[in-house]
Amino acid sequence: MRGLAAGNWKMNGTKADLAEVADLLKAHSAPACDVLLCPPATLLSRMAEAAKGTSLAVGGQDCHAKASGAHTGDVSADMLADAGATHVILGHSERRADHGESDVMVADKVTAAQAAGLTTIVCIGETEGDRDAGRTLDIIGSQIDGSLPATCEAGKLVVAYEPIWAIGTGRTPSLDEIAEVHAFLRNQLSPRFGDGIRLLYGGSVKPGNAAEIFALPNVNGALVGGASLKAADFGGIIAALSAA
Ligand code: PGA
Repeated sequence: MRGLAAGNWKMNGTKADLAEVADLLKAHSAPACDVLLCPPATLLSRMAEAAKGTSLAVGGQDCHAKASGAHTGDVSADMLADAGATHVILGHSERRADHGESDVMVADKVTAAQAAGLTTIVCIGETEGDRDAGRTLDIIGSQIDGSLPATCEAGKLVVAYEPIWAIGTGRTPSLDEIAEVHAFLRNQLSPRFGDGIRLLYGGSVKPGNAAEIFALPNVNGALVGGASLKAADFGGIIAALSAA
């Protein structure tokens, strides 16, 4: 399955940072994997313009479940698509924590985004407490059940496993732990969606650990935060995925 290297710029980046995108495109004009960058909404149109005619896709980091209306500060899936997005990250743990997003809310967003034609990257992951208590697979299983709507389309679904304690911390689970969760996810998803759903690992992925993570079964790419901000770092991850 073709891999996906997805970068999440989070609340980072102004138009000066589009220079990183130009550098990335120069160094990786024809990668052997799909490459996606999800900038803040303010940069989406500009980045989509810069990516036109290249292999780079751009996406949003969240969307509202409604198509339009009185929701100050929010952005709809149609608006993301109109700005040039083909993908959207949904249910990131920072959205779940900072904005109280529940599985039900995430599922509604998935429905809206897929209806707008976007590919949805649905994020799930356990806390450190969950892992220490041996509850990881229970938590992952219930998040996946709750966050994917009944109407979820296989062709527009990517799932990202992101242990919350590994995000932005420089810590990662062991390779066996990542492989265990990804095997579990594959078993959960295959009966419903077939074997073609891309499963991304996220949480402190960097050029130095990417190759060993991409060598694991059922790891089809990464969702990358900090290391997606600089062309050199993200480029190293793209190179590792291209070689996997
Ligand atoms: P990180 O973030 O790569 O900075 O750990 C990952 C994510 O939140 O998607």
